[in-house]
Amino acid sequence: MATHKLLLLPGDGIGIEVMAEVKRVIDWLDTRGVASFAIEEDLVGGAAYDSCGQPISEEAMAKAFAADAILLGAVGGPKWANVPYECRPEAGLLRLRKDLQLFANLRPAVCYPALADASSLKRELVEGLDVLIVRELTGGVYFGEPKTISDLSDGQKRAIDTQVYESYEIERIARVAFELARTRRNKVVSTEKHNVMKTGVLWKQVVSEVHGAEFDDVVLEHQLADSCGMQLVRAPKQFDVIVTDNLFGDILSDVAAMLTGSLGMLPSASLGAVEEVSGRRRALYEPVHGAAPDIAGKGLANPIAMVGSLAMALRYSFGLIEAADRVEAAIAGVLAGGFRTNDIFSEGMTRVGTSGMGDALLAELDKAV
Ligand code: NAD
Ligand code: IPM
Ligand code: MN
Repeated sequence: MATHKLLLLPGDGIGIEVMAEVKRVIDWLDTRGVASFAIEEDLVGGAAYDSCGQPISEEAMAKAFAADAILLGAVGGPKWANVPYECRPEAGLLRLRKDLQLFANLRPAVCYPALADASSLKRELVEGLDVLIVRELTGGVYFGEPKTISDLSDGQKRAIDTQVYESYEIERIARVAFELARTRRNKVVSTEKHNVMKTGVLWKQVVSEVHGAEFDDVVLEHQLADSCGMQLVRAPKQFDVIVTDNLFGDILSDVAAMLTGSLGMLPSASLGAVEEVSGRRRALYEPVHGAAPDIAGKGLANPIAMVGSLAMALRYSFGLIEAADRVEAAIAGVLAGGFRTNDIFSEGMTRVGTSGMGDALLAELDKAV
């Protein structure tokens, strides 16, 4: 059996807690002979800053380049509110995404049947929901230059962020979205603000061109990003794949998370291009949520988004489809069995903490053997 090189970067806050549970699932897969892993671990975010003065060390970056896949918990927290901007915890994550060229961020929002009542929307609006947000991850306003704050002569200050997209960046993310739509319900909604932004004008034009030239069997609709946010809450089941830029994708995926019951439910995959010679594709898997300082250290975090991210790694990086299905079935199983962390708790259910949810997941995995 091939051994997969996996780098674990727990990060900060609940990142460390949810990573502890995913490690138990990895061990389970390893000891049952379902998959074989060579595991490395390192620091990222505030934890790395405290240790070496940088939000990710050069050694950790080298391990990231050498890994077949990376699992990341979450970064950030109030402890690092006053560190220099370049050293903030989030900069470690952004460097990983940029340097590894992980341009395609897949954020599936699936409402498990057992959780339809945990959503802030009515059951009938979210039951059966399965939306995939395809977020561009290495461009746009996150990385555009100039990005500055300066003092003006009149005592005022000026801050600048720059939204930049080149057509190749839009083309490649559009292709990912159309290809994935073909494996699903064959519909893509592309969202931007061409009514206000030049990057929106280019986005809409390039997505249309890629569609016309290569994917005219897929249904394509364009929606303005503000309206798309409204539609996601009004009638989320109209969506199959949503393709959008870095910032809109960040916001829309947090919105989509609540449709499924909690931010603690949403996994994600950040993928690079398939390398021509090796056929390899760099990849990092992480929950959509952050370090959750309000509940960190209390053993309350929901580890499902993190465990779901491992399932995505099994599927997209290692081609272990059966193992991925098995982990995802275990998630559905514990939810159907009534196990709930605080964020998804409702009357009559069994309340568990982070490790209790881990126990339930392992018990469910055992059942399937
Ligand atoms: P957050 O996602 O950390 O938390 C938002 C809310 O959701 C909080 O109330 C939190 O308790 C809850 N929540 C999140 N994940 C949960 C889980 N697994 N189980 C139960 N509840 C959960 O967002 P925030 O509070 O805006 O940001 C906190 C820090 O995390 C910031 O420093 C931010 O930059 C960082 N952040 C990091 C990532 C990442 O590492 N990928 C993502 C988002 C935010
Ligand atoms: C996310 C997070 C990150 C982002 C932060 C932590 C840099 O919010 O992954 O959704 O904005 O991309
Ligand atoms: Mn976010």
